[in-house]
Amino acid sequence: MKYTKLGNSDLNVSRICMGCMGFGDPTRGQHSWTVDEEHSREIIKRGLELGVNFFDTAIAYQSGTCEQYVGRALRDFAKREDIVVATKFLPRTADEIERGISGQQHIENMINTSLSNLGMDYVDLYIYHMWDWNTPIEDILDGLDRVVKAGKARYIGISNCFAWQLANANAIAQREGFAKFISVQGHYNLIFREEEREMVPYCTEENIALTPYSALASGRLSRKPGENDTKRAVEDAYAKFKYDATAQQDGVIINRVAETAEKRGVTMTEVSLAWLLTKVTSPVVGATKPHHIEGAAKAVELELSDAEIAYLEEPYVPHPLAGVMAQNKRENAKDRHVWSTGDQKIK
Ligand SMILES: NC(=O)c1ccc[n+]([C@@H]2O[C@H](COP(=O)([O-])OP(=O)(O)OC[C@H]3O[C@@H](n4cnc5c(N)ncnc54)[C@H](OP(=O)(O)O)[C@@H]3O)[C@@H](O)[C@H]2O)c1
Repeated sequence: MKYTKLGNSDLNVSRICMGCMGFGDPTRGQHSWTVDEEHSREIIKRGLELGVNFFDTAIAYQSGTCEQYVGRALRDFAKREDIVVATKFLPRTADEIERGISGQQHIENMINTSLSNLGMDYVDLYIYHMWDWNTPIEDILDGLDRVVKAGKARYIGISNCFAWQLANANAIAQREGFAKFISVQGHYNLIFREEEREMVPYCTEENIALTPYSALASGRLSRKPGENDTKRAVEDAYAKFKYDATAQQDGVIINRVAETAEKRGVTMTEVSLAWLLTKVTSPVVGATKPHHIEGAAKAVELELSDAEIAYLEEPYVPHPLAGVMAQNKRENAKDRHVWSTGDQKIK
């Protein structure tokens, strides 16, 4: 494994971040395809053995059971100071707004629930999961700053935002003396490259870490088009919503990944991640089996030539925004987000 600094922080992270969204009770949340605690522990243990020290979870995943599984496994298999744990909080709900819960109180309630789920007294990175159009950014930043000052999070990150939202937020944080966002978790992979226009150059300029999610397009960049017969591939409606509309044009790129992998004698996963590793700090890669994290770890060793990179990139055409980013609009402020804390009660 190789390691690098996470943007403007002193966190030393593995070049692969383990995405933990596939861990959790499948009967309690958005995903029916998540793996149970025994299998989650096996994958986490394997990741640690391979040198992965960076783990990404969220309160939204399977009603907090993902945080619980991840917390228990990491407490059993690793020393707290050797790992970097990231979790995320959700926007305020309509019910909270009605009850007069401020953005600051909401964040305090969310971090307290996450820390209790994880069985930890701090997280290394606390991530604003998706833009909350109903809460002033000043309240979000103040709430996050209080969390950092209380020692409950070492740093803050952001996910699913436009570059202008991040630039504006960090300018306000700078003015007010609040903690600034040090990392961005956006949707970025070989078949979805919309981050390249604004976010990537902005983050490069500011030394903000890029830790993209769905690094393998939820598995589509790991196998040939049409080979979608895993439990997740069949049941993950959210991923279908993100990728089905562009499947035909994406297939051209995926076939080039397969061709490159064959020529180099490696897996498609290695090629797809090796490409992304030339652009970002640490991609967040999901796993539902131990061999998945093994494949991801191997990618760190693969170097693609400039000609291979150009060949993989050449067929890309701009895509409409998909998934959470497609909802990031003021006119959607009244809609309930697809993501919620499920049946887990937050104060
Ligand atoms: N911030 C956000 O809004 C957000 C959104 C989505 C995800 N995330 C984070 O990003 C992480 C990754 O996202 P993701 O799971 O959508 O995408 P991903 O990393 O693009 O895809 C993971 C899937 O790829 C397949 N795979 C992984 N390694 C493989 C290997 N070595 N060989 C063959 N297949 C392999 C598996 O599919 P099968 O299970 O089908 O075999 C696995 O479930 C999540 O766990 C979560 O932490 C964040």
